[in-house]
Amino acid sequence: MNQPSTGTWSPTSWQQKLAAQQPVYDDPQELTAVVGKLGMLPPLVTSWEIDKLRGFLAEAAAGNAFLLQGGDCSENLDDCGTESIVRNLKVLMQMSLVLAFSSMKRVVRVGRFAGQYAKPRSSDTETRDGVTLPVYRGDIVNRSGFTPTERRPDPELLLRGYERAALTLNFIRALCSGGFADLHHPENWELGFMNESHNLLQFQRYKEMVGRIGDSLRFMEAVHNVAFSQLSTVDVFTSHEGLHLLYEQAQTRPVPRRTGYFNLSTHFPWIGERTRQLDGAHIEYFRGIKNPIGVKVGPSMKPDDLLRLMDVLHPENEPGRLTLIHRFGADKIAGVLPDLIQAVQRSGKTVLWCCDPMHGNTVSTDGGVKTRNYDTIVREITSAFSIHRGLGSILGGIHLELTGDDVTECVGGARGLKATDLGRAYKSVVDPRLNHEQAMEIAFLISEQLSGGRTGA
Ligand code: PEP
Ligand code: CO
Repeated sequence: MNQPSTGTWSPTSWQQKLAAQQPVYDDPQELTAVVGKLGMLPPLVTSWEIDKLRGFLAEAAAGNAFLLQGGDCSENLDDCGTESIVRNLKVLMQMSLVLAFSSMKRVVRVGRFAGQYAKPRSSDTETRDGVTLPVYRGDIVNRSGFTPTERRPDPELLLRGYERAALTLNFIRALCSGGFADLHHPENWELGFMNESHNLLQFQRYKEMVGRIGDSLRFMEAVHNVAFSQLSTVDVFTSHEGLHLLYEQAQTRPVPRRTGYFNLSTHFPWIGERTRQLDGAHIEYFRGIKNPIGVKVGPSMKPDDLLRLMDVLHPENEPGRLTLIHRFGADKIAGVLPDLIQAVQRSGKTVLWCCDPMHGNTVSTDGGVKTRNYDTIVREITSAFSIHRGLGSILGGIHLELTGDDVTECVGGARGLKATDLGRAYKSVVDPRLNHEQAMEIAFLISEQLSGGRTGA
């Protein structure tokens, strides 16, 4: 049986454990030098921001806020440009507006960005036409092209990833600190293709809602004779899978006048479904950091294992510390989730439950293209809300792979994308994402669930 981690923790104590999903580098000295350099570079986030997010997540766990976590499955270094950053931020802003307006709750926006560069894979190698090379593990490790040079795990990419994360975050911070983020001007978040004919109904619904928000704002400002200047800035937090432990370790530091260590590469790292072994290196690393953390929970999770995992990762029951991101698949959720919810309830601990309706619902088309069906995604979300509600538990968040881009990666949705449409704009090199239109449809669907909860329906 797996033995949970005990004993003295340090940012490097994970190295005594088995670390799944790590690349094999051919030059250990080069790797050590790069990790040393990374450790000298300034942090990307601060401990104050991390604490603020933990407070918001605690609110979401209590049902007073809702977590919206979304972004690419895997960021690409080459995509770090104005357009893709703005588009992804716009879709998060629009979705959060829809969710906040219907739920009348704070929406905690967390991007899968500024560090979502390392990917777990099912095999260490890939073979094509008799040639075997290391598998692509994300842009922070190697490149997706199928040549020995591109597939060589290159330590320098850790630095390139950190730099891109910093550039991404810098731009996002600037956009969120005024102008773009001003709730008085939500037209800033519109996307060029929103008023195309196939989007029209949804666009009208969105415009109408934005109009009502604007009216309410102006009404309140007129009545109180003040300008709600606070509404011109927003909080957007970052998250990524804490998969590549040397990258995480390098940015894990003590901060002045506080106890403990913070991972300052992101606000909210999570442990993936494939690296949550109780006796493994990832659990060892995560147990010692002060950040709020997420753990993906798939269908193989047993209630007892979940309790043991919580003993290690959530011993103090600190509000906002632990988010369980469940991803079972629409057909499995009803068979697995209730027992896990009840186990957590018996433990007396509070967690934030968040639904990832993407990763349990990945399928391949007859042509071998990875996709997800919009209806199946919706089915898992709807089941998740009703199971939690039925057991007196709270579903306080949603975790989505999405893009503000007009891609064709998931089938279904209002426009009825079919398997044969996927080739038109399939850009993801890893998992299929919801496009802007599908993401907004899901936001409206969740908003119905949230407003239903508010009125007790
Ligand atoms: C992911 O979130 O991209 C991912 C790999 O998820 P999971 O660990 O749930 O499979
Ligand atoms: Co993914």
